[in-house]
Amino acid sequence: MRIGILGSGLMGGKLGVLFARAGHEVVFSYSRSQQKLEQLARNAGANARAGTPRDAARQADVLLLAVHWSKVDDVLKQADDVSGRIIATCSLPMNADDSGLVVANSSSGAEELARKTPGAFVVSAFGSVPSEVFFSVFEARNTGRRPSLVYSGDDARAKKVVAGLIRDVGFEPVDAGPLRIARYIEPFTLLMGQLAYEGERGPELAYRFEWFGEGA
Ligand SMILES: NC(=O)c1ccc[n+]([C@@H]2O[C@H](COP(=O)([O-])OP(=O)(O)OC[C@H]3O[C@@H](n4cnc5c(N)ncnc54)[C@H](OP(=O)(O)O)[C@@H]3O)[C@@H](O)[C@H]2O)c1
Repeated sequence: MRIGILGSGLMGGKLGVLFARAGHEVVFSYSRSQQKLEQLARNAGANARAGTPRDAARQADVLLLAVHWSKVDDVLKQADDVSGRIIATCSLPMNADDSGLVVANSSSGAEELARKTPGAFVVSAFGSVPSEVFFSVFEARNTGRRPSLVYSGDDARAKKVVAGLIRDVGFEPVDAGPLRIARYIEPFTLLMGQLAYEGERGPELAYRFEWFGEGA
């Protein structure tokens, strides 16, 4: 699959490298440093290159949106045309100093993104774990029971594609339902952040849901 990374920081940089290592073609874009994009592409190997957001969007089957909430409009403008694309978003609708959500309860960042991108297929995914855990989860992907990763969206095909990518990076995808369920996923991510960054055991944190009883 061809994957365009819109925002090549902690999340986009790491996930892009892992998508490429899993065999996908990756374009890294939207850093203030062209050198950083090229370095990421080198780390990711032969399947990856650096480009502009427009390059990333033009050829992509899937776009990963991984920018601060305040940069969403700018990166979408630079990407130009995202219609027909699947957009996996990990971007949380945080305020400028990252102390709280600016969209919550009656909407979510993922739903606001879907409103901004008619014609694209938005899936909320990858944002519910800290970036620090991705490489460890990927390394452990064949060694035992996988951590969970929730996702939600309204388009069945887009969800199936994103679930495949979630598996490719080492998690067990958990379908949480329609896109509006991002209203629950996004605040859950703040809990994960609290445990990862304010807890005593460090930020390499993932989670696993366990079902008991007859439905298990
Ligand atoms: N980090 C996490 O563990 C985590 C977990 C869950 C959700 N999220 C969400 O995921 C999204 C991405 O987070 P992140 O931690 O990957 O952010 P980040 O490291 O700051 O990456 C953001 C990317 O946007 C780029 N960018 C381009 N122009 C920019 C500008 N004018 N100002 C600021 N950045 C600009 C940055 O460029 P440079 O390369 O030049 O910095 C960087 O490549 C956010 O919405 C965040 O809430 C993050």
